[in-house]
Order: sequence, then structure tokens, then C-alpha cells
Amino acid sequence: VRHLHAFAREVELTIPEWEYAIQFLTRVGQRCDDERQEFILLSDVLGMSMLTETISNRKFGVATESTVLGPFHVVESPVRSLGDTIDLVGTGTPCVITGRVVSVDGSPIPGATLDVWQANDQGFYDVQQPDVQPRTNGRGLFTADANGEFWFRTIVPSYYPIPTDGPVGELLIATGRHAFRPAHIHFIVTAPGHRDLTTHIFVAGSEYIESDTVFAVKKSLVVDFEEVTDPARAEEWKVGTVPFRHADFEIVMQPEARG
Ligand code: BEZ
Ligand code: FE
Repeated sequence: VRHLHAFAREVELTIPEWEYAIQFLTRVGQRCDDERQEFILLSDVLGMSMLTETISNRKFGVATESTVLGPFHVVESPVRSLGDTIDLVGTGTPCVITGRVVSVDGSPIPGATLDVWQANDQGFYDVQQPDVQPRTNGRGLFTADANGEFWFRTIVPSYYPIPTDGPVGELLIATGRHAFRPAHIHFIVTAPGHRDLTTHIFVAGSEYIESDTVFAVKKSLVVDFEEVTDPARAEEWKVGTVPFRHADFEIVMQPEARG
């Protein structure tokens, strides 16, 4: 309350401004339902989600950094086997993701689970295009093997705009801001004895990588999706064609606090 009053004094808040703020927040609330949370979107574009993430995770030295959850983790991801594809459509640039889940001391975490979801090559999640994409396209729940290793096939996701058909979209227009997020793949990683990790990997070189509208890019999460032209590797990874892309990264989990 002290901060709120200080703000009103600082800007010499007028009654029309106060009324506009009340109306705006009312409309944000009215835009919320079971599938859409406009208040979280507002928090995201104001940088509050990322600031809160950063405050609560800054004490975890070498562990993989977290980032925002976002509004599209609304469908349970189907259980898939290592090596499966999460692309149920077959357009876009094929891509193989490989990696390893380890603890902060470098020891592998067998059986860690990775819940993965991403937009397609046009920048849409399955739930945004129920008539175009099969439900659970771009989603999978994987379990790392005995060495903590995981791999799956997909397509390179596209950058995309956050939903702009509500009051948050108005806010972006009124303040001259774009609505785009750089290309990324979401992960929630869980492992016994470790803190759950909600994060993304970002496609290096993607449009908007320097200006994510929700401020969620952290340098350590930007990964090269390198081009592979060797047909032997395409065969090994069951990718139909060359060239394709390959991204590899390590996920370092923070042990749960004891006691
Ligand atoms: C997302 O990456 O899915 C997302 C995150 C924040 C706001 C909108 C979308
Ligand atoms: Fe996303």
C-alpha cells in the first residue's frame, strides 16, 4: 500500500486515470476463463513474471536457469518413448533434440521426466488450432534413460505472437511494443530429490531473440540448432531427409533443500 500511494503521488494520479486503470483491470479479469489467464499475460508483458522467477531462482549457482511457464501448457502431454517424434504433421524443418539430465555435482539422473511442448513451424500451439493440428501435436512426456540421457525428434519451432485480442494486446499497441516471442521449446523437468525445473531452450539466431515481449530469454538457455548434412546421422536418428537440425544441451537440476 505504501508503494501504491507513493506511485499515485509521484505521477499525481488524476481521477480519469484512476477510472481508466479500474476499467482496464476489470477488462483483464473479464478476459480470463479456464483456458486463458489474461492477468498472467499482463504480468508477463510487464516483466513481473520473469522478475519473480529470477528472484526465486537466483540462489541456484550452476543449475539450469528457469523461465516462464506461459499459458499453453493446458493439455496433458502424451507419454512418448525416447526417439519418438512429437511432430504429428510432417511440415517444417526436421530436428533432433538430444541431452542429458544431471545433478549439480555432474552425476546423471536416471529416470528424470521431461514434459515438452512447442509451437509448430507457423508459430501456433495445437490448442490454438483445434481444426488444423491434431491434439497433442508438439507435445511429449519423456523419461531419461539410465544415464540421464534423452532424445526425441521434432521440427524447428517458429517465433510467434502472444495472444493480442484482449486488453494486454491493447496495452502493447498503446505503448508501441511488438507482441513476439523468439522460437523456443518448453520443458518441465522433474527428478526425485530435486526441485522441479520450468524452462525453455531458445533457438539461437531466432527473430526477436534480443527483444522477447515477455523478457524470458536468458543467455544460458540459447542453444545452437546446428545443420546436419550427414546421411548416416539421419539414418541413426530416423530422420527421413538431410539437411536437418540438431540441438544438444545439458539440464542441471538443483537438489531439494534438506530438512
Ligand atoms: C509461451 O511461451 O508459451 C508464452 C509465455 C508467456 C506469454 C505468452 C506465451
Ligand atoms: Fe511458448
